[in-house]
Amino acid sequence: MATTRDLLGAGMERLRAAPPAAGIETPRLDAELLLAHAIGVDRTAVVAHPEAPVGPGAEATYLAWIDRRAAGEPVAYLRGLKEFHGIVLTVDPRALIPRPETERVVDLALAEVMRRLTSGPSAMLGPTVRVLDVGTGSGAIPVALAVALRGRRVPPEDVATLAVDVSPDALDLARENAVAHGVGDRVRFLAADLLPPLTEGPWDVIAANLPYVRSDAMAHLPAPTTYEPALALDGGPDGLTVIDRLLERLPTVLAEGGVAFLEIGADQGTAVVEHAAARLPGWSCRVEVDLAGLPRVACIERGTA
Ligand SMILES: C[S@@+](CC[C@H](N)C(=O)[O-])C[C@H]1O[C@@H](n2cnc3c(N)ncnc32)[C@H](O)[C@@H]1O
Repeated sequence: MATTRDLLGAGMERLRAAPPAAGIETPRLDAELLLAHAIGVDRTAVVAHPEAPVGPGAEATYLAWIDRRAAGEPVAYLRGLKEFHGIVLTVDPRALIPRPETERVVDLALAEVMRRLTSGPSAMLGPTVRVLDVGTGSGAIPVALAVALRGRRVPPEDVATLAVDVSPDALDLARENAVAHGVGDRVRFLAADLLPPLTEGPWDVIAANLPYVRSDAMAHLPAPTTYEPALALDGGPDGLTVIDRLLERLPTVLAEGGVAFLEIGADQGTAVVEHAAARLPGWSCRVEVDLAGLPRVACIERGTA
């Protein structure tokens, strides 16, 4: 019977031999994650027990996944899950695989919600902070936010969160993730093109990770990304078409004193500040950078009248 060492070695060899177009940057990690998932254990168990025998069923599953990974399929879709902001989300081709950079959006929104609950205008007017997530995909942002708020003992009724997406498939997955994490009572989901009906708002905090890949770059995406829905990625000719639509409509949906956190591409910091200035005179727009110093989140604030 093959051991974990045998299978990891064979898997890494296969992945290292895959063409560059397959986009395999971490063959060892990928093989470890897939073998662990096939066996039904944590990755550390696979690494810690190289002599452990692996049953023929798990071996066959693992080797089939290695083949699919070598063809470019993302590890997250093969495993059907992705770690995000300290939780594990179900993922599949109905929605984009949540990225680590989006955790910054969650952190910023969480800090803003907590500030409002404890010292902001909402604390004076009543406890409810209204949060909108636009383009929710797998539900990564609102589910992670709701789990974090529950962890801080914020009662469900203190934060009203609505998450929208134009894709019914993505919304189904997002609902599944909310239920799986026990926050179905904290997040509502709605199908909408960009924004929900005006009767739903306005919103104190808006989070959005909308498509921002330039259309002409779509044909050159790494292979794993081509497994994800184009609707989640294609941001039009300059990558900012969908974000611009949201900027234009922010005055109708963002409450006085409200703030919007919009994830952007690493090369879009200057452009998004210019686009916001042109569409939102008198508002402020600053850009948060990531650990590499790259622009990642546009923070747009509406002053109070
Ligand atoms: C980049 S993905 C982000 C998904 C999720 N927020 C995340 O961070 O993992 C963008 C999402 O926006 C949705 N979307 C694209 N155009 C939209 C529109 N006009 N209105 C609402 N959602 C839209 C897509 O279906 C997709 O789920």
